[in-house]
Amino acid sequence: MKSVVIECPGELQLQDRPLPEPAAGEVRVKVKYASICGSDVHIWHGHNPFARYPRVIGHEFFGLIDATGSGVDSARIGERVAIDPVVSCGHCYPCSIGRPNVCSELQVIGVHRDGGFSEYAIAPAANAYVLPEAIPDTLASLVEPFTIAANISAFLKPVPDDVALIYGAGPMGLTAIQVLKGVYKVKTVIVADRLEERLTMARENGADQALNNSTTPLAEQLNGVQPTLIIDAACHPSILSEAAALASPTGRIGLLGFSGEPCTLTQQSLTSKELSLFTSRLNSHRFPEVITWMEQGLIQPEKLVTHTLPLSQIEQAMTLFEKDPRSCCKVIISMH
Ligand code: NAI
Ligand code: MN
Ligand code: ZN
Repeated sequence: MKSVVIECPGELQLQDRPLPEPAAGEVRVKVKYASICGSDVHIWHGHNPFARYPRVIGHEFFGLIDATGSGVDSARIGERVAIDPVVSCGHCYPCSIGRPNVCSELQVIGVHRDGGFSEYAIAPAANAYVLPEAIPDTLASLVEPFTIAANISAFLKPVPDDVALIYGAGPMGLTAIQVLKGVYKVKTVIVADRLEERLTMARENGADQALNNSTTPLAEQLNGVQPTLIIDAACHPSILSEAAALASPTGRIGLLGFSGEPCTLTQQSLTSKELSLFTSRLNSHRFPEVITWMEQGLIQPEKLVTHTLPLSQIEQAMTLFEKDPRSCCKVIISMH
């Protein structure tokens, strides 16, 4: 089979590899479509602290179950499935309270173990979620990025009267806009980005207001409006202190970033307004709800897709994704 392998940082290869066999409790998936995420690019360039090499990348993928390991019902062969990349131990403290995404032995498919930019991939059977016919093959890999927005929303508990501010209109910001508008019916969603093209995408994805903060600070543009809910999907370390300053008393702030750089803020900026700060990593069992949202048409994954390329052009696809944020959002890779 053909697989996209990062041999070592900087070295992307399309290799011929032997077909893997599913072990006990696992399924093999004949991958049909996958999508590129920033973390794939980071693993390629050696900027992901969790990655081990060589690695088949890709954690957003969809396909058909074509083999089952022992203990897995062979009737599952042929199922159309999206794969949850979060593999957990099931018995540590976070697992025991339903938060396998921060399992003390967390393994992410496509990061810690081989992933879905490949003609075939292996996953635990429990991570393979059957999709209804209403979700087309070409969009099915986008369940995973929406689970990020679903997970942080579960902490933030959006309500229609919230005034939401989202930093960043990349794939993460856009999924967050769609979830706040389409699922939680938040009346006012304001988005900030530095690229006009991305602000245009924010409007197309449902933002009520899209503000360019490259030259004029947000505080000036908000005219005293105090957001009650803020999501940082741009993830620069300078954003948290600004978010705390802008937030309404009792506001909730959600952080998604993994920067290792310090960010400076005072206790007073949080405590004086009794702000709540939430962080969110990957997803904890959010596939079923996102699949339902897609089936019901509450979110529109097609709005994120700007390009589709074959597996043979993976390096061009990843380069386009990385270098061209003005024209590029989600890139779908077709495997066969
Ligand atoms: P992206 O790089 O495509 O989008 C970020 C956007 O933020 C860009 O459009 C950029 O112009 C904008 N931006 C940068 N600085 C800004 C600022 N100061 N104010 C306003 N906008 C600003 O990245 P993507 O894929 O949307 O991911 C966003 C972040 O989310 C990344 O840092 C990534 O590591 C993180 N992430 C976190 C996950 C989690 O589970 N916690 C999962 C996936 C991504
Ligand atoms: Mn992703
Ligand atoms: Zn665990």
